[in-house]
Amino acid sequence: MDPACGAGDLLIEALQHLPKAWTLRERCDYAARSLHGWDQIGVLAEVARKRLALALLTSEAAPSERRVAPEFPNIRQGDGIAEDCNYSNVRLILLNPPFARTLLPVPQSWGEGVTSQAAPFTLEVLKKADDGTRMAAILPDVLRSGSRYNRWRDEIEKLADIKKIEPIGLFDIWTDVDVFIAHMVVRSRKRRKANPREAWQDQSLTPGGTVRLGDVATISIGDVVPHRHADEGPTVPYLTVHDVPVGATVTHAPTRRFAGRLHQAPFVVLRRTSAPTRAGGERLSVSIIDGSLGEVAVENHLVVVRPLDGSGLTCDSLKSLLEHPSVTKWLDARIRTRHLTKTSLLDLPLQGMQLSVDD
Ligand SMILES: C[S@@+](CC[C@H](N)C(=O)[O-])C[C@H]1O[C@@H](n2cnc3c(N)ncnc32)[C@H](O)[C@@H]1O
Repeated sequence: MDPACGAGDLLIEALQHLPKAWTLRERCDYAARSLHGWDQIGVLAEVARKRLALALLTSEAAPSERRVAPEFPNIRQGDGIAEDCNYSNVRLILLNPPFARTLLPVPQSWGEGVTSQAAPFTLEVLKKADDGTRMAAILPDVLRSGSRYNRWRDEIEKLADIKKIEPIGLFDIWTDVDVFIAHMVVRSRKRRKANPREAWQDQSLTPGGTVRLGDVATISIGDVVPHRHADEGPTVPYLTVHDVPVGATVTHAPTRRFAGRLHQAPFVVLRRTSAPTRAGGERLSVSIIDGSLGEVAVENHLVVVRPLDGSGLTCDSLKSLLEHPSVTKWLDARIRTRHLTKTSLLDLPLQGMQLSVDD
């Protein structure tokens, strides 16, 4: 079953997995009986039916076989997560749900406000499916790697055992969104409690014994939201993306009044925007804020990486380590959203760095 089947790409792909030894008639009968799909747009469900028939009729068959177009009565217009949508006896769900941003009508245990439609849709499908049903879902990478979906991931793990998480990268050349595939099995209703979150990340990305950025530095997102924070409090140096040239050591900054948290220089700053690489280039834009600036207010488009030992020399080493090409490779595997998260940076392995015995 594909509960949001669109023009039927996933169902057509499923035909490739029917036993090769079957006759065309057997394949047509099985597909017509066993493939189920819903799409809220009627014409898409119709296109899916026609494309499935075409795929079967143009597939290999013995010369003697008659090619009769099958009907697909179970591929229909409708809401794939409606209450009366029947999931009983479904063995495998293939899902590529809608990804558009939507406003959750009421706060949920896992989130509120604007969310990717893929998040509630996937949960609804899992809630409706029978225990033991398998599911492969193509989902936006933000659900795997974004911190604001931590509770959504917990919720999924209550409902399903995660068998495999496959980061894929760009959906296709026309669709600028990074995706992953989640392979899951719906949990028995008797054992629905949360698991650790380890399933969502490839644990081999941060093997034990590696020094992580979080072992040697604190990480904070800048606090100043320019259009929100009033010009009040002490006058302090103020860093925005425009005042921090990439690769430079910054010794001067404009000032502003700010009553919130300040950051004691020296430290390293990163730009928070860091899209997954498409055509080369590094993901981190690293600069150093010189100790002479003292306490500094930082805009929320920057990330402050402050060495635990507060030393300028450690800032220099961190800058070189963060500029290492392996960092981009690691980030591309770990987080394919357009904004860096604190959690992913804390986990970032520092190649070639050793913790001293004191650490
Ligand atoms: C990303 S496309 C899916 C493509 C499809 N799986 C395929 O293989 O071609 C998402 C589809 O979900 C449909 N959709 C959105 N909300 C729906 C709902 N509540 N029930 C059924 N279909 C829905 C949209 O019309 C759209 O065709």
